[in-house]
Amino acid sequence: MSLLSIPILASIAILIAAIYKFIVYPTLISPLSKIPNAHWSTPISPIWILWTRYQCQENRKLHAAHLKHGPVVRLAPNELSVNDIGGLRTVYAGGFEKGQWYSIFDNYGVPCMFSTWHSRTHSARKRMISNIYSKSIIHSSPALAEQARVILYERLLPIVTSTADSARSSDGVDVHDLWNATTMDFITAYLFGLKNGSNFLQNESYRRHWFQLYHSRKTYTFFPQELPRSSQFFKRLGINLTPTWVDDANQELEAWTKDRCDHTSGFINGGFAAKDSDPANEPVVFTTLLSGIEKEQKKGSESVLNDTTLRFPELSIASEMIDHLAAGHETSGITMTYLSWQVSQDLALQDDLRAELLTLSPNMLLSASSKQSIPSSKDLDNLPLLHAVLMETLRLRAAIPGGQPRMTPYPSCTLGKFTEIPGGVRVGAQAHSVHRNAQVYPDPEKWDHKRWLDTENGYSEEQRRERDRHFWAFSSGGRMCIGSNFAMHELKLIVAAVYSNFRTYIVKDEGIEQTDGYTCGPASNKLFLRFERIIDHSS
Ligand code: HEM
Ligand SMILES: *[C@@H]1O[C@H](CO)[C@@H](O)[C@H](O)[C@H]1NC(C)=O
Ligand SMILES: *[C@@H]1O[C@H](CO)[C@@H](O)[C@H](O)[C@H]1NC(C)=O
Ligand SMILES: *[C@@H]1O[C@H](CO)[C@@H](O)[C@H](O)[C@H]1NC(C)=O
Repeated sequence: MSLLSIPILASIAILIAAIYKFIVYPTLISPLSKIPNAHWSTPISPIWILWTRYQCQENRKLHAAHLKHGPVVRLAPNELSVNDIGGLRTVYAGGFEKGQWYSIFDNYGVPCMFSTWHSRTHSARKRMISNIYSKSIIHSSPALAEQARVILYERLLPIVTSTADSARSSDGVDVHDLWNATTMDFITAYLFGLKNGSNFLQNESYRRHWFQLYHSRKTYTFFPQELPRSSQFFKRLGINLTPTWVDDANQELEAWTKDRCDHTSGFINGGFAAKDSDPANEPVVFTTLLSGIEKEQKKGSESVLNDTTLRFPELSIASEMIDHLAAGHETSGITMTYLSWQVSQDLALQDDLRAELLTLSPNMLLSASSKQSIPSSKDLDNLPLLHAVLMETLRLRAAIPGGQPRMTPYPSCTLGKFTEIPGGVRVGAQAHSVHRNAQVYPDPEKWDHKRWLDTENGYSEEQRRERDRHFWAFSSGGRMCIGSNFAMHELKLIVAAVYSNFRTYIVKDEGIEQTDGYTCGPASNKLFLRFERIIDHSS
C-alpha cells in the first residue's frame, strides 16, 4: 500500500462517519426519526425552520404541519412541536425547563423570573410574588381597586368622552394606542403605586415616544434567539447583527424603569409608604418582591438564589419590573384591541353586553350625580356575556400565539407514542394551533363568543370540558402566566367602563390581521374606532 493512500483512506473514513452522523443516524436510526417531518429536510438541517421563522410564517406553517402529520412533528434535527393535550401535559405540566431562547428577556444583563432557565431558581422567585397575583388578592386588593378607579374615571373615560363629543369624532381614534396606554397605567400602578407608575393616558407625547422605543426592538429578536452562537461570534468580530439603536432603545427603557424603582424604594425606605393614607400609592409588587428577596438574603449561601438574584438584588428587582410591565401591557393591549374590533362589528351584541353590564351594582354608568365607583370584582367576574366575549378573543387572537420552547429532560422522555426522545431537544407548543382544533372549537377561524355561553351553545359536559382544557392563552404548568388573573380583571373593568357608556364603530381597520410570531398584534399596529356616547334617559 502506498503512503499516499493513507490520507485518502482517512478522508474516506471521515466522510463515511460524517454521512452516518449527519444523515444516516438522524434520518433512519435516531428515535427522533420515527416522528413525522414538517419538511423533508428537517432530519438533516434546521434551515427550513430557521427560514420559516425569519419570514415570520412559523405559526401558520406549524399549524399546517400538525393538520397534516398529527400531534407531534419534527421541525429540525433537534427540534419538535406538539399541539395536543397529551403534549401540553408532558411538556408544560411536566415541568420541562426553558433555555437560551428566553435569555433575550433578561434586562440589565440579569435574568427575570420569565427568562430564568431552571425550575428550581424559577420557583424560588415565583413563590415570592405569586400570592399578590392570585385571583383572591386581585379581587380584593384596596390598592388595585383605587388605582383602577382613578385610571378609568379620571383618565380613560374623560378622554373617550371628549373624543366622542369632538367635532372630529367621525375620524375615529387609534384605540390600540389608547388601550396600550390604559394597560400600561394599570400594570405600572400595581408595580410601583399610582404616583410612581406611568401616566400614559394623559401624557400622549411621552407614550408615543415610549411605544416607539419599545416597538423598534421587536424585529431584531431573530438572530439572538435562533442563532445565539453565530450572533455572539459575529459580535466578537465586531459585526453586530442587531443595530446599535436597538441597544440604545433598551437602555432608555431600562433607565426609565430603574428611575421608577429608585423613586419607589425611596418612598418605601424613607418611611413615606407607611404614612401614605391613599391605598392607590401602595407599590404592591415592588414591596412584595423586595421583602421576598430580603427574606432570601437571610438564608445566605443556603439560598438557591445565592449565585443569581442575590448577587444583584436591585437589578433583579428592576429586571422583574420591566418584564411585568412589558408582558403586562402589550398582551392586554392587543386583547383589548381585538375585543373592541369584534364587538364593533355587532351592535346587537354591544346592546346585550351593555344590558348585562348595567345589572352591576354599582354599575359603571357615567353620571354627574353619583360617586363613580368600581363594581364588586366578584360580580364583574360572574357576568357570562362579558366573560364569553373576552374568552373568545383570547382564543382566536391569543396575544402570544407563538411557540413556547422548552428542553426535553435527560436522559430521555416519551411524547405521545414516541419513546426514547433524548434530552436537550427543543420542544414547544403554540396557542395558535391548540386554539384551532376543529374537534374542540368547530369552525375554528370564526369568532363566536357563544362557544363560551353554556346557556346558548348546547354543549355536553364533555364538550365543555374539552373546550376549557384546550384554552391555552396563558400557557400552563409551573411557567404559566403569573398575570392571568390581573389581565382578566383589568380587561373586564376596561370593557365594562367603556361599553356601559359608549357604542363603538369601525372607522379604519386595514392591517388588523394578526402578525405571525411570538407576541402578535395587528399588522398595522393600529385600529381606528369611533365612539358614540349612549345617553340613557332612564337613569
Ligand atoms: C391577555 C393578557 C396576557 C396574556 C395573553 C399572557 C400570556 C402569557 C403566556 C402565554 C405566558 C407563558 C409564555 C412562555 O412560557 O413562553 C406568560 C407568562 C408570563 N406573563 Fe403573561 N400574559 C398576559 C398578561 C400578563 C400580565 C398582565 C402580566 C403582569 C404581571 C404578565 C406577566 C407574565 C409573567 C411574569 C410571565 C412569566 C411567568 C413565569 O415565568 O412563571 N402577563 N404570559
Ligand atoms: C401601542 O399602540 C401604538 C399605537 O397604535 C403602537 O405604535 C405600539 O406599537 C403599541 N405598543 C405595543 C407594545 O404593541
Ligand atoms: C413617587 O410617589 C411618591 C408618593 O406618592 C411621591 O411623593 C413622588 O413624587 C413620586 N415620584 C415620582 C417620580 O412621581
Ligand atoms: C410626560 O412624561 C415625561 C417622562 O416621564 C415627563 O418628563 C413629562 O414631564 C411628562 N409630561 C407631562 C405633561 O406630564
